[in-house]
Amino acid sequence: MKRIIRKEVLDTEKYVAGKPISEVKRELGLKEVIKLASNENPLGCSPDVKKVLYNLINNTALYPDSGNFQLKQALANHYNVNVSQVFCGGGSDSLIKVLCTTFLNPGDESIIAQVTFPRYESNIKLMGGICVKIPMKNNGLDVDAMVNAITDKTKMIWMCNPNNPTGSIFTKEDLQKVLDRIPKNVIIVMDEAYIEYVEDKNFPDSIEILNQYPNMITLRTFSKAYGLAGLRCGYGIANEELVGYINRVINPFDVNLFAQVAAVSALEDQDFLKEVVDENRKEREYLSKYFEEKKLEYVNSNTNFIMVNINRDDKPVYEAMLKKGVIIRPGFLLGMPQWLRISIGTKEQNRKLVQVLNDVL
Ligand SMILES: Cc1ncc(COP(=O)(O)O)c(C=O)c1O
Repeated sequence: MKRIIRKEVLDTEKYVAGKPISEVKRELGLKEVIKLASNENPLGCSPDVKKVLYNLINNTALYPDSGNFQLKQALANHYNVNVSQVFCGGGSDSLIKVLCTTFLNPGDESIIAQVTFPRYESNIKLMGGICVKIPMKNNGLDVDAMVNAITDKTKMIWMCNPNNPTGSIFTKEDLQKVLDRIPKNVIIVMDEAYIEYVEDKNFPDSIEILNQYPNMITLRTFSKAYGLAGLRCGYGIANEELVGYINRVINPFDVNLFAQVAAVSALEDQDFLKEVVDENRKEREYLSKYFEEKKLEYVNSNTNFIMVNINRDDKPVYEAMLKKGVIIRPGFLLGMPQWLRISIGTKEQNRKLVQVLNDVL
């Protein structure tokens, strides 16, 4: 069988996602389990979204709009860009694959940070591209070193800002330095999946400057602060000509009917988004304070998760926490052994997390 599989597929490892609650309950015979492992929104989604979803229930037999007309229109208005600059997919994860398929020929180099969202690497490799990994600097992206690594074989460079799993950011000034040096024939992907949570005033909003850089593509998602991870909807904004090519690669019905309608409604409820961000800030401060009290090093986060150094093998800690009904993401799976990535939950979930982490440590 192996002989008929593409070499690139043989070389690709299966993505290990955060364990679902149902699996942990089943395997460990637990009644109560909380999941703080996949950076989901503990407050769910806007009540307005729920209403529009109920009203759609009789339309399941119809294909969704393959052009995502209303969603693109809503995003274009929200960001003040042309509709032709917007593309949508079944999660930004799907769009990462689309971008690799659009741009990478076998042997093309693609630069990523050593510790970042793992889907860049797997999709680069799947296309036969060469993944060039650049070591981190102070647990963040070393953007200068990433640009220094560009060769005449480089096709793409991936900047996750804020970065998953570290939660760190780079600033407007950093991005400007990068953009001044990146050749026009190298695509820069700005993955801003967590931008809604960012507090730092020096954070660059790439969409504001996108029109000056035809080689820059911004990816964002409804999975995080908008609370729609289960429905799968991500989007990108870029130069109109590039978007024309990207749209040739996206599966025509990648964004399902429910996701399209929910995303439009979610975007309209900016009050709910504010509540989510305010609550997340309070809870992030609570957890940060706890780590400080415990003298545990953590990365200053601009997201809905925190990376914390527990100074010991993280796998047994992860397993012990699982047994007590708390799912977190162990660092050994993310390229940061001895660290844990903890998604920020509700007030109640975070108190439980602290109690369990205290017991286990
Ligand atoms: C940095 C980053 N990009 C993209 C994604 C994919 O998100 P989705 O496919 O749900 O839009 C994630 C999900 O965890 C992420 O952390």
